[in-house]
Amino acid sequence: MDRLQILQATASVLLLLSFFSSLPGAESIGVNYGMIGNNLPTPAEVVSLYKSRNITELRLFNPNTTVLAALENSGIGVVLGTLNQDLQSLAASPSFAARWVSANVVPFSKSVDFRYITAGNEVIPGESAPFVLPAIKNLGAALRDASLKIPVTTVVSTQVLNVSYPPSQGAFGSLSVMSPLVAFLEANNVPLLVNVYPYFAYAGDSENVRLDYSLFTANGVVVQDGPLGYTNLFDAIVDACYSALERAGGRGVEVVVSETGWPSGGGGAGATVENAKTYNNNLVAHLRRNGGTPKRPGRKMEAYLFAIFNENQKPAGTEQNFGLFRPDMTEVYHVNFTP
Ligand SMILES: *[C@@H]1O[C@H](CO)[C@@H](O)[C@H](O)[C@H]1NC(C)=O
Ligand SMILES: *[C@@H]1O[C@H](CO)[C@@H](O)[C@H](O)[C@H]1NC(C)=O
Ligand SMILES: *[C@@H]1O[C@H](CO)[C@@H](O)[C@H](O)[C@H]1NC(C)=O
Repeated sequence: MDRLQILQATASVLLLLSFFSSLPGAESIGVNYGMIGNNLPTPAEVVSLYKSRNITELRLFNPNTTVLAALENSGIGVVLGTLNQDLQSLAASPSFAARWVSANVVPFSKSVDFRYITAGNEVIPGESAPFVLPAIKNLGAALRDASLKIPVTTVVSTQVLNVSYPPSQGAFGSLSVMSPLVAFLEANNVPLLVNVYPYFAYAGDSENVRLDYSLFTANGVVVQDGPLGYTNLFDAIVDACYSALERAGGRGVEVVVSETGWPSGGGGAGATVENAKTYNNNLVAHLRRNGGTPKRPGRKMEAYLFAIFNENQKPAGTEQNFGLFRPDMTEVYHVNFTP
């Protein structure tokens, strides 16, 4: 090679490298910041904890300006939820939605990296379900009026599925709510946020649901679904959601996993530190591999572990034991977030 060829080769390698590093294909992994405890560290300490552990995204269930102030200029991506009890007002009143945006988003819009605003957490099916889409639309209009481009969506549990097995047969119930919602998400290129808990599937039927399949430790395919083979339950649940989205006319809608986790104690089947550590570390490794799911191979995935702390004011039992950290900020077990 002469010098010119070397320069050209170097340039194309650099071009290739910058192409790969700017691909939208990189996964993102965050952690839910639940606050249902009376012994939790201050928001400033929590933000320092996220940064020191290289946790780059955070989900906040309710708007809280003390927490948002602590997140300013942190570089942490933030998913911000509305209170479920505000949904009816957000749906009924464009001016209520505008006030919500002025109070909770506008003051932080230049210093906090908002990834999504979520209208409602796990309200479909339920009596607040009809408020979700009108609330999304009013919040979206208020954000546009404030010249902000932040996607607005909702968080659902897998209760929205009335069929989840096999994954290819995934289908929503509540179609009168889900069909227009899915059409809106499809038209606006906004993801659906879904809370995905292999743990509850395992704990609810530990005779029939294999622990290794739930913990990403099975050696091969456990569920064969037509041409697609599943080695872990997480992918099977996510793909049931993709099948349901396709049936509801949302072939292009992406699933973001807004919660997933495993309890380290509290008495439920399989609720041990060892299993929680195995689940969460294997989940992170699975996401980092960027392999997607059998139905969406190679698709980048975005997921938020539940949760940063054990929360002592949640219902007794496993619910209080989903934390990666104790309230004194010591680890319950180690999860490595550094890519
Ligand atoms: C966070 O990332 C930095 C830079 O990559 C690295 O030096 C550090 O060890 C990481 N911290 C942890 C807790 O993994
Ligand atoms: C916001 O968070 C702070 C710090 O945890 C807490 O003291 C306060 O009560 C919260 N405010 C609301 C409105 O939830
Ligand atoms: C699921 O919901 C659809 C639409 O509401 C309905 O047609 C179907 O019978 C339901 N299937 C099951 C198994 O409940």
